[in-house]
Amino acid sequence: MKELNSSYLLHGGDYNPEQWQDYPQILEQDFKLMKDANINTVTVGMFSWAALEPEEGVYHFEWLDDVFDHMNEIGGKVILATPSGARPAWMAEKYPEVLRTNSKGEKLYFGERHNHCFTSPIYRAKVQEFNTLLAKRYGARNNLLMWHVSNEYGGECHCELCQEAFRHWLKNKYGTLKALNDAWWTTFWGHSFNDWSQVHSPSPLGDSNLNGLNLDWRRFVSDQTIDFYSNEIQPLRELTPNVPITTNFMADTFDLIPFRGLDYFEFAKHLDVVSWDCYPAWNNDFETPKHTAMKVAMIDDYFRSLKQQNFLIMESTPSQVNWHPYNRAKRPNVHRLSSLQHIAHGSDSNLYFQWRQSRGASEMFHGAVITHEGSSKTRIFHDVHQVGQDLNAIAEVKDCKHAKAEVAIIFDHENMWALNDTQNYANETKNYWQTLQSHYQYFWEHDIPVDIISPKVDLTAYKLVIDPMHFLMSTKFMDQLYKFTSSGGTVVGTYLSGVVNENDLAYLGGWPEQLQHLFGLKVEETDTLYPNQSNVIEMDGQSFRAQDYCEVISNISAKNLAIYKDDFYAGRPAVTMKKVDHGTSYFIACRTNSDFLNSLYELISKRLELKSDSSIGKDNAAVSIQIRQNSTHKYLFVMNFDETAHQVELDHSMTEMLTNELRNGTVKMPAGGVAIFRDQIV
Ligand code: GAL
Ligand code: ZN
Repeated sequence: MKELNSSYLLHGGDYNPEQWQDYPQILEQDFKLMKDANINTVTVGMFSWAALEPEEGVYHFEWLDDVFDHMNEIGGKVILATPSGARPAWMAEKYPEVLRTNSKGEKLYFGERHNHCFTSPIYRAKVQEFNTLLAKRYGARNNLLMWHVSNEYGGECHCELCQEAFRHWLKNKYGTLKALNDAWWTTFWGHSFNDWSQVHSPSPLGDSNLNGLNLDWRRFVSDQTIDFYSNEIQPLRELTPNVPITTNFMADTFDLIPFRGLDYFEFAKHLDVVSWDCYPAWNNDFETPKHTAMKVAMIDDYFRSLKQQNFLIMESTPSQVNWHPYNRAKRPNVHRLSSLQHIAHGSDSNLYFQWRQSRGASEMFHGAVITHEGSSKTRIFHDVHQVGQDLNAIAEVKDCKHAKAEVAIIFDHENMWALNDTQNYANETKNYWQTLQSHYQYFWEHDIPVDIISPKVDLTAYKLVIDPMHFLMSTKFMDQLYKFTSSGGTVVGTYLSGVVNENDLAYLGGWPEQLQHLFGLKVEETDTLYPNQSNVIEMDGQSFRAQDYCEVISNISAKNLAIYKDDFYAGRPAVTMKKVDHGTSYFIACRTNSDFLNSLYELISKRLELKSDSSIGKDNAAVSIQIRQNSTHKYLFVMNFDETAHQVELDHSMTEMLTNELRNGTVKMPAGGVAIFRDQIV
């Protein structure tokens, strides 16, 4: 595994000088302004193919050479992107097979970006050729920090080349058509295939309702994207074996759900460092900043968990974006707080899109370090400068890892695909990731570290495994979960779990036996409620609301913790607990609010002695304390996400690193305030 060759936290971002080649006076200012902004890293070349190879075989690398030289002069590093995210017009014209085809079979015109065919041999060859040139020209530069391969891989192509590749993938997986027909249950609606050539990707003009096909297509798209990436990096690995490789991952803006199109757990295995682009809607009108902070914390934890190592924020905005429905400016303090929050969760960078605001085109109004105004005399510049200063002040956390987690929440991309695709329950309220967030909340509020892991990860490192809404669950995983629990682990399972196998086929004969043994119960029915309907569950004389999903279960050998109060299942168990050899299982049969989950997790955390490793006392859950540490020191990031002031209590003196002051006792935390304490491990 290649590590980043940097002794400091990265600060900087996307630099696109190809847009400014006719404005020499602007280019001249850039590096001086970067130095003033405390910027030490630029990411360059993301969409530069047309500028670097304006005609086939004609190259203009001079401006890119200049970037390396100038960054060297200011002591900065370069993250060099490969340009496959946007191909030049001449290429689309000369080799139309590089263009993407949509699910209706329409070949797209040249334009936009992120829209190549991921199978096209010509595009793959062109990309390799170009990346070879980049690696030969820049591989030996001492300030080449890492490769940024392509940009935000996503989407799919349905051209004939891709259909063939899909069929090949299916043949590999199933061996025989009979096995494929069985797995997809094609006897329904008489869809049985008798020749491989009849199989076609999901399409509104053909099959869009064959769940097995849809799921395998999602898997294929993910695999084919990784395959395309593997082809891209081949020359980089060969020519620059010591330069680490990343590609920038994504998450959805409002709910901060991992990008739905790719299995990032699988993809991450092929990267040296995980990086992602983060654009949350801070200070919106539908949730408190505390809630936004909790969601950002969880997705950061997910990206950290992909490789169980520090990650990078590859893009974020220094102010507003231009593509939210409402593009709010960042309130004072928010830039600093939100940037340091990523570092607190294990990021080694805070990078921006982009350095200089474009003069035209679709993102001309997207926030940038240098706005159209052009100087360093803006609030944004000041905020960026401040964050740069902060990152320098805490540079030593670079070699520290986020505190080890004893709690894991299972997230499975395949499960998300299958669950979202299934025609049952209610599309509006499936909310898989949001449900994981509601389980995460208690731990975030109590500063207890959590990993977000795939079902393929070894569970033995954890005390508590939370596995909500695991609709598509293999029997292999059921066995694993049972083994984990019987040898002393604690597991929490919920409604909508263990319904289908890995082929998206329903389990026959009732709820799977392994799960019956694990939880000591049988799921009999699932009741989907309308948004305005609810039930009530009672635990220890306290009532909690249940909504969206209520499963009717019969208890075989578990202890009832809560029972339903209403409807035809009133009096039946709603939450149960069972001792399983050395461990314990809990089952939550209905969707509850976080008030119930908080009570349950309080109980479980006490029993398992799960707590924060922080010695700092806090008076409000909106104050988050995250820890990074090495063998000698703990770095405690204290962040107040509330809109009012709070205070924390130190029981011994520690240096606050942003102010370099020794502090002890009560420390005031203003609204949006952040403090970072260095604590020696004795
Ligand atoms: C990212 C993308 C950047 C830029 C940015 C704007 O998704 O990678 O190139 O478009 O969004 O927010
Ligand atoms: Zn294609």
